Formats: sequence, structure tokens, C-alpha cells
Amino acid sequence: MGIEPDGFAAQGVEAKGIEANDAERDDFRPEDVAPVGVGLIWAQALDGVIGVANTIPWRLPEDMAHFKATTLGRPVIMGRKTWDSLPVRFRPLPGRRNIVVTRDPHWVGDGAERAGSVPEALALVAEPATAGTPAAETPAAEVPTAEAPAADAPAATVPGVWVMGGGEIYRAALPYATTVSVTEVDVTVDGDTYAPPLDAATWTVTEGQGEGKGRGEGEGPDTGWATSTTGLRYRIRTFVRR
Ligand SMILES: NC(=O)c1ccc[n+]([C@@H]2O[C@H](COP(=O)([O-])OP(=O)(O)OC[C@H]3O[C@@H](n4cnc5c(N)ncnc54)[C@H](OP(=O)(O)O)[C@@H]3O)[C@@H](O)[C@H]2O)c1
Repeated sequence: MGIEPDGFAAQGVEAKGIEANDAERDDFRPEDVAPVGVGLIWAQALDGVIGVANTIPWRLPEDMAHFKATTLGRPVIMGRKTWDSLPVRFRPLPGRRNIVVTRDPHWVGDGAERAGSVPEALALVAEPATAGTPAAETPAAEVPTAEAPAADAPAATVPGVWVMGGGEIYRAALPYATTVSVTEVDVTVDGDTYAPPLDAATWTVTEGQGEGKGRGEGEGPDTGWATSTTGLRYRIRTFVRR
């Protein structure tokens, strides 16, 4: 039994009616096409760099832990280049349904599902996973049930699917997003891929989201800057739509 499909069924999700140009409609609302809430999650340098030469140009174990804790047990959507950037031994990402967006209709990846666009990927998450996806093979004990979204949880605060890059896919998915988790890394690096800007008129920072470390204490990665074991300064901020 797949983990994510059951979770989605419990929330009464319907996949119907998602079209590629939905986000361009005047009356478009993200929650209409993705009632489970769509999260985007990335780490960026202060100037918005997220990648160079199809790699991430820093090492931040705390952010990797945050990424895993946030996405585990939920479907992840990524671009074909981000899939290619994952070391073979780490893909598909375990305990998550891996959906890869590509224009290549013949693309196949072990343990991954293909979608022809971001809206198509969002429609897929409301359907049962196809046979052999990693979520179905992951022991239930690995999935943090305490973090599973409650049936009545507001979609805007508990995304049911996470878009994990890269630059092209973040841009395509942003109109559908209800939540964005941004790890800011205090580093200056050369890059060729950037995070989309978050318009302050649309997005506001919330507190108490993310890993939970330091919550309410005025320090720690949720509420301010922290120092990684690698020596890099970083902070994790969660944005939601106003
Ligand atoms: N810092 C972070 O948090 C983070 C996270 C993830 C990735 N990254 C970095 O980001 C970089 C990769 O980002 P990227 O922008 O180059 O590539 P990407 O977004 O990962 O993937 C781009 C590919 O997605 C497919 N695609 C894009 N738009 C599409 C659409 N509208 N419809 C159908 N398919 C579409 C195309 O695949 P086909 O060419 O196969 O058609 C395209 O080549 C790497 O450096 C990676 O390390 C950083």
C-alpha cells in the first residue's frame, strides 16, 4: 500500500480539472488545483544562487536534515536536471514518491514517475502511485507519522506535496505554491541557477515552521541565523501566501 496516496485520499483530494495554463487564468487560485497545499523547498545563497553546473555549491548537513524531515512521507516533484544531479545511490529519494518533470515522453528513471509538466505532476499526486514507486517499498517505520498532515489541517500551512527544484521547475510551480521553505546560506558563490524572487506583496514570513529548533527562543535556524557544523551561517524561513 502506498503511503502518499492514502494520505491524499484521506484529505478528499480531487485531481480533475488541472490544466497546463490554469495559473494564467484571472480567477486562478492555487488551492483550487492543489487543495492539499503545494510546498516549494530550496536553499539559496544570499543573492539567490541555488546551483552551478548542476550541483549545489555548498555543503550544509543541517539543511539536508531539514529537507529530509520536511519531505519524508510526501511526494516530491523535481525537474529532470535535478533528478540527474542526484547521486545514483540516492535516487529515487527513499520514503517519497519521486515525480520527475520532463518534456521527453520516453523518459524513464528507476523508481520515478514521469510528468510532462508541473500541472500534470500535481494531478499525479492525487492519484495512486504506480507500481514499484519507492514509497510503497519503504517501511512504515521510516515515515514520521507524527508529522503527517492532519485531515483538517489548513492546506496553506501543511503542504501535501513538495517541489524540490531546480530553477525552471520552481518558476513553473510558484503560481501553485501555498508555502515556500527557504534556507538562506550566508555564502557568496558563482552560480548559473537562481531561485525565483518572492514578491513581498504575495508572500509573508511565518514563524514556527520548519525544523522547530530554537522556536520561540530568538535563536536557532527558525528564528534567526545559526552556524552549521561546516562553519556556514544559515537560517530557515517559511513563507506563506498572504
Ligand atoms: N539549492 C537547492 O535547493 C536546489 C534544489 C534543486 C536543484 N538545485 C540545483 O538547480 C540546478 C538545476 O535546475 P535547472 O533549472 O537547471 O533544472 P531543473 O528545473 O531541475 O530541470 C529542468 C528540466 O525540467 C524539464 N522542464 C522544465 N520546464 C518544463 C515544463 N514546463 N514542462 C515540462 N518539462 C519541463 C526539462 O526537462 P527535459 O530537458 O528532460 O525536457 C528541463 O530541462 C542544479 O544546479 C541543481 O543542483 C538546487
